[in-house]
Amino acid sequence: MRKGLLWAFIVGFCVVYTVSECPIQLDPPSVVVRHGDPVSVNCTMSGEHKGIGWEASVAAVDMVTDVQFVTWRLEHLTDWNTGPRCYVNYMNNTEYAQCQEKLQLIVYKTPDSVSISVVNHTGPMVEGEQYQLQCEIENIAPVRNLTVKWYKGETLENQTSYEDLTKTPVNVSSTLLITPTSTDDGEQYSCVAELELGPEGPEPPPEDKSEPLSINVHYPPFFSNPDDEALEVTEEKEGVPLNCDAQGNPPPAFSWYSPSDHVEKVSQTLIISASLSPGDHVYTCTASNHLGENSKKFTVKVIPRGDQTVLWSLIGVGVGVAVLLIAGYVILKSRADGNSII
Ligand SMILES: *[C@@H]1O[C@H](CO)[C@@H](O)[C@H](O)[C@H]1NC(C)=O
Ligand SMILES: *[C@@H]1O[C@H](CO)[C@@H](O)[C@H](O)[C@H]1NC(C)=O
Ligand SMILES: *[C@@H]1O[C@H](CO)[C@@H](O)[C@H](O)[C@H]1NC(C)=O
Ligand SMILES: *[C@@H]1O[C@H](CO)[C@@H](O)[C@H](O)[C@H]1NC(C)=O
Ligand SMILES: *[C@@H]1O[C@H](CO)[C@@H](O)[C@H](O)[C@H]1NC(C)=O
Ligand SMILES: *[C@@H]1O[C@H](CO)[C@@H](O)[C@H](O)[C@H]1NC(C)=O
Repeated sequence: MRKGLLWAFIVGFCVVYTVSECPIQLDPPSVVVRHGDPVSVNCTMSGEHKGIGWEASVAAVDMVTDVQFVTWRLEHLTDWNTGPRCYVNYMNNTEYAQCQEKLQLIVYKTPDSVSISVVNHTGPMVEGEQYQLQCEIENIAPVRNLTVKWYKGETLENQTSYEDLTKTPVNVSSTLLITPTSTDDGEQYSCVAELELGPEGPEPPPEDKSEPLSINVHYPPFFSNPDDEALEVTEEKEGVPLNCDAQGNPPPAFSWYSPSDHVEKVSQTLIISASLSPGDHVYTCTASNHLGENSKKFTVKVIPRGDQTVLWSLIGVGVGVAVLLIAGYVILKSRADGNSII
């Protein structure tokens, strides 16, 4: 255990020593450049040296001896794999030494297009079935710094990132599986290609958004209020409205079944005719479209007019009794107080 720690210390010390050894400085030490944009980086050697230069696939700078710094510069950086390094030859005490520093360079390109589609499907979707949305991103670099974000409306649904270390532009795609419900009808999906390039990168990070994809979801009819309903009405002139409010896509057709009447197709609300006889009448409303149908019952209880007369006479008796009681109380109270109201 002790020996292990000692070795870890020695190795760690050597690593630190080696890293701090090369006496050159890059300014800036890391760069993020849009493909085609200019770039310039200084490599400075503060002490004595025997030559300093840049090694790169483009714009390499030959070794020079009589300067403190050399600049790697391009008007248009169009190479994806330049991998520039600055090197220096110098005397380390009495020994001849050479070392180099690699420039952290990211060359990026925003995509030519970002588009969204439904895989192997056209036309309306059906509630409860699964569909695959695909986002295609053309010519983006570097894919390692790409995040594809999926949105439903303004809500982030999922996101994908990529491990691929390719530096040149690539085409990538991301998929999102969805199982739409009736509330998703008319929703808009979109995908966004975002390049996260860190603190040296542009602020805010470049974002390319697809055109939104609106989805049309078909679903069987369902009622706003699914329970059967019971209504009580007195026998009267006007009919009673029965509200068979149902949603469906495509919009449902309604049919009504009544015990006495014929079947008729009307809109959502049915007005019962005034000629209902006292008793219970059951109406059934059915809403249907090509995906299915749904029914609900309305029980209309018609109270005969006669019952109303009985009700009113009951109320009359009640009021009469109350008046008598109050009068009796007032008389008794005034007697007890020793006054006469007469
Ligand atoms: C490099 O150094 C020169 C001279 O000091 C300076 O003018 C230039 O702005 C520097 N360039 C960068 C990228 O730091
Ligand atoms: C520089 O010299 C020191 C001691 O003189 C030595 O330990 C070190 O390894 C040398 N560095 C290089 C890069 O040669
Ligand atoms: C789409 O259809 C093609 C050809 O019909 C088939 O090869 C492919 O597997 C389908 N993809 C999906 C996701 O269903
Ligand atoms: C990306 O796709 C476009 C269009 O399909 C094509 O022209 C281009 O060559 C593709 N690029 C790569 C890197 O595959
Ligand atoms: C969301 O993304 C993760 C990883 O990218 C994936 O495994 C998952 O299936 C995705 N979810 C949907 C609903 O597409
Ligand atoms: C961008 O990708 C590079 C590798 O190419 C990685 O080192 C860096 O951390 C990434 N930056 C961000 C902000 O994700």
